Amino acid sequence: MKLQRRIFSYPVLLACILLMAVAECRFRISGGLPAGGEGGGGSAVGETKYTATSCRAHTASLTDFGAVGDGVTSNTKAFQAAVTALAEFSGDGGGLLYVPAGQWLTGPFNLTSCMTLFLHRNAVILATQDMNEWPVIDFLPSYGRGRDAPGGRYSSLIVGSNLTDVIITGDNGTIDGQGGFWWAKFHHKQLKYTRGYLVELLYSDQIFVSNLVFLNSPSWNIHPVYSSNIIIKGITISAPVHSPNTDGINPDSCSHVRIEDCYIVSGDDCIAIKSGWDEYGIAVGMPSQHIIIRRLTCVSPTSATIALGSEMSGGVQDVRAEDITAIDTESGVRIKTAIGRGGFIKDIYVRRMNLHTMKWVFWMTGNYNSHPDQKYNPDAIPDVEGISYSHVTAENVTTAEGWRE
Ligand SMILES: *[C@@H]1O[C@H](CO)[C@@H](O)[C@H](O)[C@H]1NC(C)=O
Ligand SMILES: *[C@@H]1O[C@H](CO)[C@@H](O)[C@H](O)[C@H]1NC(C)=O
Ligand SMILES: *[C@@H]1O[C@H](CO)[C@@H](O)[C@H](O)[C@H]1NC(C)=O
Ligand SMILES: *[C@@H]1O[C@H](CO)[C@@H](O)[C@H](O)[C@H]1NC(C)=O
Repeated sequence: MKLQRRIFSYPVLLACILLMAVAECRFRISGGLPAGGEGGGGSAVGETKYTATSCRAHTASLTDFGAVGDGVTSNTKAFQAAVTALAEFSGDGGGLLYVPAGQWLTGPFNLTSCMTLFLHRNAVILATQDMNEWPVIDFLPSYGRGRDAPGGRYSSLIVGSNLTDVIITGDNGTIDGQGGFWWAKFHHKQLKYTRGYLVELLYSDQIFVSNLVFLNSPSWNIHPVYSSNIIIKGITISAPVHSPNTDGINPDSCSHVRIEDCYIVSGDDCIAIKSGWDEYGIAVGMPSQHIIIRRLTCVSPTSATIALGSEMSGGVQDVRAEDITAIDTESGVRIKTAIGRGGFIKDIYVRRMNLHTMKWVFWMTGNYNSHPDQKYNPDAIPDVEGISYSHVTAENVTTAEGWRE
């Protein structure tokens, strides 16, 4: 990739690479070899190679900010200080935060524009179980309340708002939500607020998430919302198949999204495309659109491979899914709407799905009756049109179709 040095002095929006093509990047940690490995094959000593949508001019290691990778010490302040330091470079070629091998316990932290978070193969970012470390934030305007409970919600672990050009990647390092703690509290009704996600990016543009493992999220794993130009590639998501609401990837009121080469095992939908809830989603009116999902493998015995809804009040359109493999799921594509949702689901094209062991190949319901409150408009009936499936092979199916009015 060629970048003229002088464009780095332009304002942030120009200094970031605007194209979403992937390039080969490399970085070097001063002081020599990144702990535990030499990175990609064939690289010079101490150099790590990776592919991403933008390369960065500056690199810092989490340990430069006093972090301790013992799995016990809280590193929230170190992550926050590192991001604050890297924010200085967002108009100057951007910064990469290197997370070395180790167990890095942390509470939630924000990312910044033109930033890459890079995890070493043996790096594990561990979400803290200290409730005092989880700030309570506002509910999303298109939902009108938290999803689990009225009012605000706990922050997600890795968050960002109003950012441009954010990369979360690595050499297959791990982000572990330690969700067991949250699932138990959820089941015992001990949570006052909605659980957080592993990654949530709001109002952001140019997002690239790749080559990582996401384990045991408290709830959904990856949640881009009100965002655009998103690539999620080559990630593994895993949570116990009976864990509550551990959806894999949920694009929510997002445009131009590509999800490819992902392997997801979860207790809820592997992918759920959403756009807000009833009157709140209708008022915000931001559809999820222009979405490509390809080469996905999903295991989710109680839920769908790809769900559209149930919160779809801003509309869902132009979704193309192909080369999808599902092993033990409840349904292939599941369209979930309800009276009061409004919005639309249209122009959905699915081809080349291979399904093994499932209850329903197609499942569509217009009666998925969960509402944020009783203020929904009973005349707001969702439009569903232009749904096309081809080359779908299914084995060991209990019921071919499920239709519920
Ligand atoms: C992240 O930044 C947003 C505002 O930009 C703020 O509301 C939120 O509390 C921050 N979260 C954390 C964990 O620092
Ligand atoms: C982020 O952008 C949204 C939409 O443009 C705006 O309403 C909000 O105030 C911005 N938030 C911050 C923290 O700048
Ligand atoms: C990343 O790690 C996961 C979990 O250990 C593994 O299943 C996957 O094959 C690994 N991916 C790569 C590219 O090494
Ligand atoms: C077929 O599906 C049932 C559950 O519906 C499962 O118990 C059984 O193991 C599956 N058989 C094969 C051959 O996968």
